Amino acid sequence: MGNFGDFQTGIYANGMFAGQKPELSTGLTQLEERAAEVLSADALGYILPSAGSGATARANREAFDRWRIVPRMLRGAAERDLTTTVLGTTLPAPVALAPIGVQTLVHEEGELATARAAAAVGLPYVHSCAASHSPEQAAEAAAAAGDGPRWFQLYWPTDPDVCASFLSRARAAGYTALLVTLDTTTLGWRPADLDRGFLPFLRGEGIATFLTDPAFRAKLDRPPEEDLGAAVMRWASIFPNPGLSWDDLTFVRERWDGPIALKGILSPDDARLAADHGMDGVVVSNHGGRQVDGAVAALDALGPVAEAVGDRLDVLFDSGIRTGADAVKALALGAKAVLVGRPYLYGLALRGREGAEHVLRCLLAELDLTLHHSGYRSPSQLTPASLVRAPA
Ligand code: FNR
Repeated sequence: MGNFGDFQTGIYANGMFAGQKPELSTGLTQLEERAAEVLSADALGYILPSAGSGATARANREAFDRWRIVPRMLRGAAERDLTTTVLGTTLPAPVALAPIGVQTLVHEEGELATARAAAAVGLPYVHSCAASHSPEQAAEAAAAAGDGPRWFQLYWPTDPDVCASFLSRARAAGYTALLVTLDTTTLGWRPADLDRGFLPFLRGEGIATFLTDPAFRAKLDRPPEEDLGAAVMRWASIFPNPGLSWDDLTFVRERWDGPIALKGILSPDDARLAADHGMDGVVVSNHGGRQVDGAVAALDALGPVAEAVGDRLDVLFDSGIRTGADAVKALALGAKAVLVGRPYLYGLALRGREGAEHVLRCLLAELDLTLHHSGYRSPSQLTPASLVRAPA
C-alpha cells in the first residue's frame, strides 16, 4: 500500500526548495526520442522498430488512443491501495517489468541494473531467457537492492534437458512464477536488423542463460570460454522451436510447481485452451509488434480474452503501455496487471539503473494519480464502464 503519487510532490519540493530538477523527463513518451540520441545504430535497430511495416506496433498505440477514461467526482479517493495479487505474487501495484533480452545493448550493466531498479521499487523483475546475464546473476543483483519478486521467462529450447535445467535453476534462484513466451518460436521478420545483418545472439550476446547452463555445456565438446563459436552454433540449433503444441505444456507443468502464464495470447480460444491445459495465467501481448506484422492490437484483444477466461486465469497485458494512464485503460479492460516494456529500457539506456527506476516511479505515480483523479481507490474498481470509446 502507498500513495505512489507522492513522487510528484517530491519532484515539486526538490525543484522549489533545493533547486533540483529530474535528470530525465517525467513525460515517458519523450524518452524514446532521447534514448534514440544515445543508442548505437545496432541497438536502436534492435529495440525500436517492429516486425515488417511496423503496422502492429502502430496499432498497439492507436488502440489506446481510441479509449478515453471517464473521471468520476466526489468519491473520496484520497487513500488508494494499489496492492494486487497476481500469479501467486502480491505486488505493491499491478505492474511488472516485461522480459526484455540483450539489455547490454543499451547499457553495460544490462539486466543487472534493471533487476536492481525493479527490486528497489518492489515490482517483479522478469528475467528474459535471452538475457545477457544469467538468472543467478540477476537474482543476486536484485536481492542486494531490495526484496521485490522475480519471475522467469522461458523461450522453450528444443533440447528437453536444457529446458528442464532452466526451470530448476530459475526456481533455485528464487524466481516464483514462469512466463512461457509462445509467440517467438522463431524470430519475426525485422527489416531493421535484417538490413544490417545484425543479430546479437550470434556474437554470443543475449545467450548467457544457455552458456551458463550445465545441461547445455554438457553437450559441447569444449566450454564456451574456449570455443564461443561452437557454443553459439549449438544455441542456434536448439533455440527456434516452431513445432510446439498444446500437449507439450505438460512438460513444463510437471517441472514447475509455481504459477505459469502463457505470454503472447491474442485469441479468446487460445486463452480457453490455456485454462484447459492447467495454466494459471495468460499475458495478452503481441511482443510489442515485433513478431506478426498486421496482428491485432494487443489492447483490442484484451477485452475478449478477459471476458473468456478472466474468472479462470490471471490475465496480464503488455504491448503499447507508455504511461500510467495507459495502464489504467488496460486494467479497466480486464487486465489484472500490466507489463511495461520499452519505456524502462529507454530509462536504462539514458541513466542506467537510476533511469529505469525513474521510469517505473513516474509510471506508478501517474497510475496512482489517474486512479485518484478518476475516482477510484483501487485498480479492482476499474471496469470497462470506466472508459468510453473516443468519437471517430
Ligand atoms: C522484447 N520482448 C521480449 N519478450 C520475451 O518474452 N522475451 C524476450 O527476451 C523479449 N525481448 C525483447 C527485446 C526487446 C528489445 C523488446 C522491445 C521486446 C517483448 C516484451 O516482453 C514485451 O512483450 C514488449 O516489449 C511489449 O511492448 P512495448 O510495451 O515494448 O511496446
